[in-house]
Amino acid sequence: MTTFWSWYITILTLGTIVALVWLIMATRKGQRSDTTEQTVGHAFDGIEEFDNPLPKWWFMLFVSTIVFGLGYLALYPGLGTWTGVLPGYEGGWTQNKQYDKEMQKAQSEYGPIFAKYAAMPIEEVAKDPQALKIGGRLFASNCSVCHGSDAKGTHGFPNLTDHIWRWGGEPEAIQATLLNGRQAAMPAWGTILGSTGVKNVAAYVLNDLAGRKLPENAKVDLAAGKATFATNCAACHGAQGQGNVAMGAPDLTQPAGYIYGTSLAQVEQTLNYGRNGKMPAQEAFLGKDKVHVLAAYVYSLSQGKPAAE
Ligand code: HEC
Ligand code: HEC
Repeated sequence: MTTFWSWYITILTLGTIVALVWLIMATRKGQRSDTTEQTVGHAFDGIEEFDNPLPKWWFMLFVSTIVFGLGYLALYPGLGTWTGVLPGYEGGWTQNKQYDKEMQKAQSEYGPIFAKYAAMPIEEVAKDPQALKIGGRLFASNCSVCHGSDAKGTHGFPNLTDHIWRWGGEPEAIQATLLNGRQAAMPAWGTILGSTGVKNVAAYVLNDLAGRKLPENAKVDLAAGKATFATNCAACHGAQGQGNVAMGAPDLTQPAGYIYGTSLAQVEQTLNYGRNGKMPAQEAFLGKDKVHVLAAYVYSLSQGKPAAE
């Protein structure tokens, strides 16, 4: 900011405050404790105004806003290039400095707790009630927007409480998912297979792999679908459609694990246009130690539940 604009702002701001002080003092009536029946003389619609001073508390309210304003302008930046003299902020307060301060405080307060868990294997952390409580809160603020507050997922976002995993459910796999994120790449088949080809393989996937009943009137060629699957899909999804955690290709024999829907139309949509689900990486954002606790929390969600659920 140039010196001119700095003074421009300062003079305008302080000048306005001084003018307000003058205005309130000049128009103030002498403080009286008694009230008067005398009116100021004008009437509107039969209503008249008594000629009484402002109540003292009301007047003091005005004064205190002015005092607050001046105090604020002294402590915080606001008057041109003045940076303020808030104690604890060398060179003036800024949002970033306050944020850094709070993060440092949190780090010194909670750092040792996370460090303790970071030194334990994830399976152990997953049995620690305090760690699970912390993990639950981290999940609520960082993950539930996508995976739901109950972690059961929704369209496009996987359920984390079952035994069906796209990228693997071992503690290390979950941790890797969280640290580095995951980018799924299901190619689009519409132009390659054509609409009949897509319909046939979608029908095969649903009927033969996922065990879903097709609509009675579905005109599909399951044998042709099967052949297409072996040629084009098995490389990623496996010969039996059992999936491959190395590339996040889902197990197609588990309809409960489909995140894009299990109707014929939805699977055709998936095949025609492809899918590119993305799990954002958390390492840079949350740090390794918090991710360790979160991985334990996610791991705990599916433990102790029947595998067939
Ligand atoms: C912006 C939305 C979004 C947020 C936020 C998000 N996720 Fe995800 N997550 C996804 C998507 C989408 C996938 C599926 C990726 C795919 O298609 O393979 C996924 C996948 C996963 C998986 C792998 C599931 C499997 O079946 O292998 C885990 C574990 C996971 N997320 C945990 C978390 C945790 C813990 C957090 C909080 C730190 C989180 N996610 C935050 C969108 C999100
Ligand atoms: C290059 C590897 C690859 C090939 C080839 C491939 N897929 Fe996929 N497929 C994936 C991945 C990865 C996903 C997960 C996409 C996501 O999570 O966004 C997926 C998802 C799907 C889904 C959606 C499942 C759900 O969660 O709703 C279906 C259905 C599917 N594939 C069927 C097929 C069929 C049929 C073929 C052959 C025509 C095929 N895929 C070929 C990798 C592949």
